[in-house]
Amino acid sequence: MTRTVYYTATTLDGFIATPEHSLDWLLSRQIDQDGPFGYKDFEKRIGAVVMGASTYRWIRRHEPDSWAYAIPTWVLTHSRDLEPFPGADIRITAADSPEALTTLHGELVAAAGGRDVWVVGGGDLAGQFAEAGLLDELVVSIAPVTIGAGAPLLPRHVELVRTEWAVNGEFVCVRYDVVR
Ligand SMILES: NC(=O)c1ccc[n+]([C@@H]2O[C@H](COP(=O)([O-])OP(=O)(O)OC[C@H]3O[C@@H](n4cnc5c(N)ncnc54)[C@H](OP(=O)(O)O)[C@@H]3O)[C@@H](O)[C@H]2O)c1
Repeated sequence: MTRTVYYTATTLDGFIATPEHSLDWLLSRQIDQDGPFGYKDFEKRIGAVVMGASTYRWIRRHEPDSWAYAIPTWVLTHSRDLEPFPGADIRITAADSPEALTTLHGELVAAAGGRDVWVVGGGDLAGQFAEAGLLDELVVSIAPVTIGAGAPLLPRHVELVRTEWAVNGEFVCVRYDVVR
């Protein structure tokens, strides 16, 4: 059964990017992508992707000449200046209510074809899914750094149950089920 998973890396103080949307605190660190909780395994689970506008802009800025995902991707925004990467299956839309998010979630699950849905971020978007009762799992890789301010990991009250954890390189990685 399809699960909807927020899989991300975070600082110890709960930020997924600096206020300037930098990930330098993350990209400089040692992690084995083939190791426990690594991206290589996670990638095999997912059949559809959803992300917010800032995350999409970051990816386009950092990889201007390619698009990493061969699976359908939804980008949420109200802006009209976002364009899909040419040739990629990218759907730009808005979901302004729990009902709209639930409809979108149905499309994500259908597109995932039995695999999982990846909520890439940001944290508020993951929070919207959680609040609408649509988030099943949180997987965080915690970097040994604090940055004091930035884009929050999950700025909502969400109750979680730890199901698994491991050490990978510099990171402590934890899997949680979301309590409904
Ligand atoms: N550490 C990691 O592994 C990791 C993972 C993911 C992301 N990141 C980074 O974290 C930062 C996240 O940025 P962020 O906090 O600004 O979050 P974001 O979700 O990437 O972008 C927020 C924007 O998404 C749009 N949005 C969100 N929910 C929407 C909805 N329901 N309907 C329509 N539009 C919606 C809005 O765009 P408009 O204002 O255009 O309407 C909102 O301003 C980025 O820098 C990203 O690169 C890091």
